Amino acid sequence: SRLIVPGETLRKGGQRPPFLPVAPPFWLQRPPFSAAPIEAGAGMGYLPSHFGQDPAMTPPRKLFVKTYGCQMNVYDSERMAEAMGGAGYVTTENPAEADMIVLNTCHIREKAAEKVYSELGRLKPLKAANPELKIAVAGCVAQAEGAEILRRAPMVDLVVGPQTYHRLPQMEAEARAGGRPVDTEFPPEDKFDHLPKGPRAGRGPAAFLTVQEGCDKFCAFCVVPYTRGAEVSRPAARLMAEARDLVARGVREITLLGQNVNAYHGEGDAGPWTLARLLRAMAGIEGLARLRYTTSHPNDMDDDLIAAHGDLPALMPYLHLPVQSGSDRVLKAMNRRHTAADYLRLIERLRAVRPDLALSGDFIVGFPGETEADFEATLDLVRRVGYHSPFPFKYSARPGTPAAERPVLPDSVLDERLYRLQALIAQQQRAAQSAMVGREVEVLFEKPGRMAGQMMGKSEHLHAVNVTAGGLAAGDLRRVRITESRTNSLAGVLV
Ligand code: SAH
Ligand code: SF4
Ligand code: F3S
Repeated sequence: SRLIVPGETLRKGGQRPPFLPVAPPFWLQRPPFSAAPIEAGAGMGYLPSHFGQDPAMTPPRKLFVKTYGCQMNVYDSERMAEAMGGAGYVTTENPAEADMIVLNTCHIREKAAEKVYSELGRLKPLKAANPELKIAVAGCVAQAEGAEILRRAPMVDLVVGPQTYHRLPQMEAEARAGGRPVDTEFPPEDKFDHLPKGPRAGRGPAAFLTVQEGCDKFCAFCVVPYTRGAEVSRPAARLMAEARDLVARGVREITLLGQNVNAYHGEGDAGPWTLARLLRAMAGIEGLARLRYTTSHPNDMDDDLIAAHGDLPALMPYLHLPVQSGSDRVLKAMNRRHTAADYLRLIERLRAVRPDLALSGDFIVGFPGETEADFEATLDLVRRVGYHSPFPFKYSARPGTPAAERPVLPDSVLDERLYRLQALIAQQQRAAQSAMVGREVEVLFEKPGRMAGQMMGKSEHLHAVNVTAGGLAAGDLRRVRITESRTNSLAGVLV
């Protein structure tokens, strides 16, 4: 395994220039860090078909990107598509016609990491039919396994970690020349500074913007500090410029991303900016209606950020704030450095300034040593908080993490606890959705719904809302009265 020991990660990552990453849990759609692949080519539909095309070069090569894992990867996939756009590629949603396929992978749980190998198996016939097809493995599995991937999967042409994808065009050329390059460095330059500039396409109304990347927390179960390196924040001025650019291209809602987004401390005028300061500045950008941020650690919710939830109208009343467990004994074993009571107090303070705040979170069941009483404490915490959209995960031992050395509980125990937690969560989700019926909400419309004449958008609380009405366009912000709660969405009418 190529996992780096913590000290080494810190040293290497510490030299890394300010840079950035992950995104928003989409309410009831997919867990923020689920191993489930996002639909093919997701997030890249805004690249026009002529994007990156040099008129002298016919026809352009086609790039297919498949994204796994968190929103940070979604953002990175878009950036990789832009980088390859500069090398004459256009994106395609059809892997069969691709000249290059990038799998942007996730290492968070074993199942997520194994997906890359089953996907590679499925791609074999494509490679056999087209020997010119280049296959790249990017993202967190690339970072963790590096050259091992080339040994295990002979069909892979190149391996690129999350910090070096700006070098992808160069690596692709190397692969076309017969090489099999691997780059999983934490380089001294900022990958975001090395992406192609110039005219960029218009895009959908909701966008991700990575402001911070990496993590110094070292929770005992988690690979992120190893795959993404140390916590690094991008400079505020650059983020403000990127946000203004997004708004100029039609974006009305921005979700600031970071593996530990509320630890943001990017270089600004007169010293580093906090996340609250950045949110306040962005809220002043004309045309930007909504701000969100994800994912946060309870220990980094400072007073100003809590206050912002009360006094910043653009900051949407939805917060993904993982707690992992309701048992202090387990939290300690996880190295979370907060108690259940700390977390509950924090929620109380947030709700004091924003009573309608919708909460979401992540939970791990079956952490090594978790007893029935510990698990009951998690259920109890979930009952007390009342979540809109929590994400429960079965503990998965990850090589190189401290918890991987500890004895695991029987899988049957994990299954049973997951089932019980899921049942409680489903009940809370249904209640949260049903409570919306009859209420008026503001919806940012994003795209056509499944039925003819229908448009889908998101409410302030990140509920998916479908409305059938003429004249609605993506980017419209309209008041809607909710008439019905369906399995994963709400239906309503314009008011
Ligand atoms: N930075 C965020 C989220 C990181 S990963 C945070 O600190 O909350 C997203 C979620 O995946 C975590 O919140 C955790 O619930 C889950 N997760 C991480 N490692 C895991 C593991 N080894 N097994 C099961 N779930 C895990
Ligand atoms: Fe992983 Fe913990 Fe860092 Fe979140 S805070 S990314 S769970 S180590
Ligand atoms: Fe994200 Fe998975 Fe990497 S959750 S940071 S893609 S390990």
